[in-house]
Amino acid sequence: MRFLLFVGASNTLAEAEIEAQIKEYSLSLPNTYGFQAETELEAIKLASKLGSSIKLAKEVSNVASDSQNLADLIKSKTFSITSLDNFSDSPKINQEIKNILNKGRFVLSKDSFGLSPILLRKHDIDEFLLDRVKDEVWQTIWVHDFSHWIKKDRNMPFANARAGILPPKIARSMVNLVPLVPEGKLLLDPFCGSGRILIEAAELGFTIAGSDIIGKQVQETKANLHSLGFEAKVELVDAVHLSDVFAGVDAIVTEPYLGKVNPRPDQIRYIVPGLMKLYLGCLKNWVKVLKPGGYVVMVFPWFDDGRKVYKTSSVIDGKLELSYNSLKRGLLYSRPGADVKREIVILQKK
Ligand SMILES: C[S@@+](CC[C@H](N)C(=O)[O-])C[C@H]1O[C@@H](n2cnc3c(N)ncnc32)[C@H](O)[C@@H]1O
Repeated sequence: MRFLLFVGASNTLAEAEIEAQIKEYSLSLPNTYGFQAETELEAIKLASKLGSSIKLAKEVSNVASDSQNLADLIKSKTFSITSLDNFSDSPKINQEIKNILNKGRFVLSKDSFGLSPILLRKHDIDEFLLDRVKDEVWQTIWVHDFSHWIKKDRNMPFANARAGILPPKIARSMVNLVPLVPEGKLLLDPFCGSGRILIEAAELGFTIAGSDIIGKQVQETKANLHSLGFEAKVELVDAVHLSDVFAGVDAIVTEPYLGKVNPRPDQIRYIVPGLMKLYLGCLKNWVKVLKPGGYVVMVFPWFDDGRKVYKTSSVIDGKLELSYNSLKRGLLYSRPGADVKREIVILQKK
């Protein structure tokens, strides 16, 4: 069976997540990926696992995309049909179907992405997406559980803005970059903050552990995990000395300390060397913490002082190459125009 997956953001992180989790896929339209699965359930399971996914549609086979055949597919009182090949045709197509059905009502989408997940979850709407050029019909079968994502973003016991808050969907995509089946694998975040990465890893089925240099963060991570029914060993330790406390770890996924919030351009060249020293110290120490073949998925900030772009991931170029293979670099997730860009890097211990 063929499926279309709609993703929420067009960034290189979303594409990397899809590449890591879906063996064969194709970019059908901007932010829309085609893939195959044996069953509808398998496709829904896959879509639910991803941080970047927002909507899933399945191909309705043996239905020519003409209006009478489409009208036969509509079961709810409300429907919505979006033309993928010629968006401006959508109002005409919806009206044609309404005339054939002689009942019901339609909702028009604002763009070729179709209706929003919020609208589709709140109301019982049959949504179809058409490609009349390719003679394809797609029916929406799943939308992401935005209320659960909002809960994890805004309604946790602790969300400390000063400690930096990673959007849960970004945290989920980062965890999905670890090329391991989660069951029985230990995933650690040594800069756990309020525990966002650990929550996503626990929901995916990893065994989790965390640490932070600030006791309050350790307590907050424990409380946030507990509120969702998860427990973990969370320790107070400097990430540079992680091996004092942990060993035998399968994957480290982390957004480390990123320096002072909103530094002035003239401060940047003094901040960068300190951060690079911290990252280098960590990566050297983590060789002792990781199992052979273990993974690191880590955020490295890029700073721009108007004269030069400082890419802190350059710490990897040098002696660390003896200990790690660089599997991927340059995955960016910051919005265009943001002051500090964030690069995600995937390393594997040799
Ligand atoms: C950017 S925040 C991580 C936020 C986390 N990803 C979240 O969304 O909840 C960085 C965290 O690193 C901690 N930290 C700073 N320096 C550290 C060090 N040397 N070792 C361990 N933790 C450190 C801070 O206390 C802070 O909680």
